[in-house]
Amino acid sequence: MTTSNSVLLLLRDNCFHSGEELARSLGISRSAIWKVIQALRKKGLDIHSIRGKGYRLSKKIELLDKDIIEQALPSSLHDCFEVYTYFELSSTNDFLLKHIKNSQDDLRTPVCLAEYQTHGRGRRGRVWHSPLGTNLYISISWRHKQSPQAVSGFSLVAALALAKSLETLGVNGVGVKWPNDVLWNRKKLAGILLELIGELHGDQLLIIGIGVNVDMPDSANMSINQPHTDLKKVTGILLSRNILAAEILKRISEYFKIYEKDGMASLLPEWHARDTFLNEKVELIFPHQSIYGKVAGIDEQGSLLLDMNNGKRQAFQSGEISMRPYGHEI
Ligand code: BTN
Repeated sequence: MTTSNSVLLLLRDNCFHSGEELARSLGISRSAIWKVIQALRKKGLDIHSIRGKGYRLSKKIELLDKDIIEQALPSSLHDCFEVYTYFELSSTNDFLLKHIKNSQDDLRTPVCLAEYQTHGRGRRGRVWHSPLGTNLYISISWRHKQSPQAVSGFSLVAALALAKSLETLGVNGVGVKWPNDVLWNRKKLAGILLELIGELHGDQLLIIGIGVNVDMPDSANMSINQPHTDLKKVTGILLSRNILAAEILKRISEYFKIYEKDGMASLLPEWHARDTFLNEKVELIFPHQSIYGKVAGIDEQGSLLLDMNNGKRQAFQSGEISMRPYGHEI
């Protein structure tokens, strides 16, 4: 365990702890404690310090806990996942990419969570802001027997599973945006980064990386340049990240099994019911151009259907729907 992790463990009760007490507990100097506090602040933790009283977290935090996650899973899934929790990683997706190469014969599904990501990755090479101890960063490695063409569908199915897990925990009005954003009131609540990493014994290996904004600190809010929100703002309560992680694992298993058995067909109604932009005129952005059309849903391959100005319906496998209001006639 790193010193930062140990200090965080002592501070998590959100009571005051003097520098002297922290230093004594960890067998290090008070100036070393001060340096750790500065480092924790840089990673996004809001720590108050008052002369004569010491240091205190601005709010209580529940640290990630493998045991709580495993116990919250339904008994049918108890032996299905190998859960790893870390204080700090470059990216939970990157951890699984490396890990899988060394543990190819474990039949359980590897799952990795971190309190903090130094290089959290979003789609299209973007940064995924990953402040410490407050949001959820989870990656799941999934083996499947279908063709590589079926892979893009997993991305949409993961968004549905994630939306369902949030709804189960009491978050109402969760929507999706093609291909795999989870929104609330047109603001981003969670994102998914799906990576196909190769083949093992004839199975395709996927990594599904999920970031959920649980309680985004103000310092991180300022660096995010798209409309976004978090679960605390939406529900008014601080949801347990461990319970949320277990619920996500449960729903991902459930939805992926449906998709592997029946394809997208049986999930189309649910997608269309949650599709924030259904029947709306949108701008679909590509690296060098934009296309405008009215969203007509998705097809059984998970492609986006747009009704074009020329009266034709066209399917798109790539592109990104702009979240900026689009007011021009098409
Ligand atoms: C997006 O751009 O919407 C996708 C964001 C995905 C972020 C998650 S956080 C856990 C996992 N690790 C990463 O580095 N990225 C994904």
